[in-house]
Amino acid sequence: MDRQAIEKAADVLRQRMPAPPAIGLILGSGLGVLADEIEEAVRIPYEEIPGFPVSTVEGHAGRLVCGRLEGASVVAMQGRFHYYEGYSLREVTFPVRVMKALGVRELIVTNAAGGVNEQFRPGDLMMISDHINLLGTNPLIGPNDPELGPRFPDMTEAYSRRLRQLAKDAAARLGIRLHEGVYVANIGPSYETPAEIRMIRVLGGDAVGMSTVPEVIVARHAGMEVLGISCISNLAAGMTDAPLHHDEVVETAERVKADFLRLIKAVVAELAK
Ligand code: HPA
Repeated sequence: MDRQAIEKAADVLRQRMPAPPAIGLILGSGLGVLADEIEEAVRIPYEEIPGFPVSTVEGHAGRLVCGRLEGASVVAMQGRFHYYEGYSLREVTFPVRVMKALGVRELIVTNAAGGVNEQFRPGDLMMISDHINLLGTNPLIGPNDPELGPRFPDMTEAYSRRLRQLAKDAAARLGIRLHEGVYVANIGPSYETPAEIRMIRVLGGDAVGMSTVPEVIVARHAGMEVLGISCISNLAAGMTDAPLHHDEVVETAERVKADFLRLIKAVVAELAK
């Protein structure tokens, strides 16, 4: 059933895409500009892809952009789906299944996140070394299709050591400061309380957001290699006196987009070699 839906979406996309993509990109809040860098771009609104949910949150365009980036054939999600919008985690992660069906081997997942680590400042970039799932659920709950992946997928190296090294080297070459840390997924849509942020810090979290973890779990289930980059858009709740606002998240992403773009493009260029 699931597999049929995945194949149906992949068939529609294959007919419209210039070439099968090798690299997938999921672009977070305010980071969709990366898709504008894609050459020979074919833009496909989610409404035109069977099985795709339709994005509702502000700051998310809601389309796939396929084409070439730094010599690589890529497919980018400009706008993603969140659990807090009311979609099931199967729906949230459906595009990852479709990317896999199209031939994507490496998935670069990006997001805007609140900084929990006291060393972080808004506008910093953090490479995700690992994650903590506080969603209280998992996209793989339900019957497992062994054709898609194993019942009990290993998560020891959810974020590929190889890709992390590649990103680290690229950042050093470009003179971009790149933190490394643990991303914690909160269910949202309310931001965390200051007490929750203290808890997350005790648990070992460096950044907190409302996405990414479901997509990464499914990507690993499907055997894809994952790189995760967070844009620290704000300090988490209680770390300053200011209340949190989504506008701040989008504004900060806008401010760091130059470095963000340079870093992702350098990583893609390496992968294309
Ligand atoms: N908390 C949760 N999600 C977020 C935040 C935050 O502080 N900033 C951006 N996404």
